[in-house]
Amino acid sequence: MAYRIINGNSIEEMNNLPANSVDLVFADPPYWMRTEGVLERVEGTEFDGCDDEWDQFETLEDYEIFTRNWLTACYRVLKPNGSIWVIGGMQCIYTIGEIMQEIGYWFINDVVWFKKNPTPNFKGTRLNNSHETLIWACKRKNARFTFNYKTAKELNTDTVADDEYAHGIRKQLGSIWRIPVCAGNERLRDDQGNKLHNTQKPEELLYRVIAISSKIGDTVLDPFGGTMTTGAVAERLGRNSIMIERDARYCEYGERRLAAVTFEDSNIARATYDVKPVRVTVPEMIEHGFFTVGESFCFRDGIEVATLQADGKLLWNGQAIDMHSCAAKARGAQAKRLNGFDYWYVIRDGNPKSINEIREEYRAQI
Ligand SMILES: C[S@@+](CC[C@H](N)C(=O)[O-])C[C@H]1O[C@@H](n2cnc3c(N)ncnc32)[C@H](O)[C@@H]1O
Repeated sequence: MAYRIINGNSIEEMNNLPANSVDLVFADPPYWMRTEGVLERVEGTEFDGCDDEWDQFETLEDYEIFTRNWLTACYRVLKPNGSIWVIGGMQCIYTIGEIMQEIGYWFINDVVWFKKNPTPNFKGTRLNNSHETLIWACKRKNARFTFNYKTAKELNTDTVADDEYAHGIRKQLGSIWRIPVCAGNERLRDDQGNKLHNTQKPEELLYRVIAISSKIGDTVLDPFGGTMTTGAVAERLGRNSIMIERDARYCEYGERRLAAVTFEDSNIARATYDVKPVRVTVPEMIEHGFFTVGESFCFRDGIEVATLQADGKLLWNGQAIDMHSCAAKARGAQAKRLNGFDYWYVIRDGNPKSINEIREEYRAQI
């Protein structure tokens, strides 16, 4: 896929991009951390937090003007059915959220990124700040934004234990994500071996964001590129990316990072879990020899319950009814309909065989 790194001011550069042209925005803006003085660990060594020049603002009003400008620029370049993720800490996320709503963004979810290995509150003077918040939004209430629901389930290791996951158990992905902060080998270092950037985000976080809210071949924009984490993950997942960053040094190291990434073809990248199967009907399968008119339909025990009619209905107790209602009636269920494909079997080679399995064989053939 193609990536583009633009060294410049994000507001000006976004205003040079065509309107309605990007599918997804991920923005990790300056948080205006307001850190003062030297932060020390308990044993006295200095902690390298974020006191960078790019994170300095004079007043709340200055920060609000900056936030409004870049969020407005994102709104213009985002496609009508695109979506945006903005990450922030307690210092900025409330300001950002309010301005987003004033601009017209419609909130989809807010996600808590729970840091498995947060920086401690060294002096024990308040709670350990162990999360950041992501706001996921689209341009209007009824936007048809991409959400790869089943792919998200595949990525849910937060509420599914390892052994459950290994046994195929999947649950809906929730809005609390347990992901460690970027550390170890993942942290980029400059040529002198020093930490390159103070606020590099973990790839795992971006992997979830991009995999669940965009499609392969889409274009992802990050107006505050930093070490280009968004571009690196977009590349891995087969998405195009546009990265804007005003610091030439970060762009240079980011260029090296992106040049080394290759597309990792996978079901997650292609969101194959979310591809809707082709709709097929029973009469169509009769026509192609997968079922026979008059054959017995049974449950798992193989005892005949009903017989198949040419129109796909089942003859049961003298009435012809659709197979879903028939499954419910024949099983004495409270529901009026059960998914017949989950319940009905036919005899093949002397044994009951699920009609769902037969449907899959038919789909594979067509
Ligand atoms: C919070 S960091 C992003 C870190 C990034 N997500 C990563 O994983 O490396 C914000 C970045 O935005 C850049 N930046 C700040 N203001 C900017 C502006 N007006 N235009 C372009 N880049 C800007 C800073 O230089 C900084 O690298």
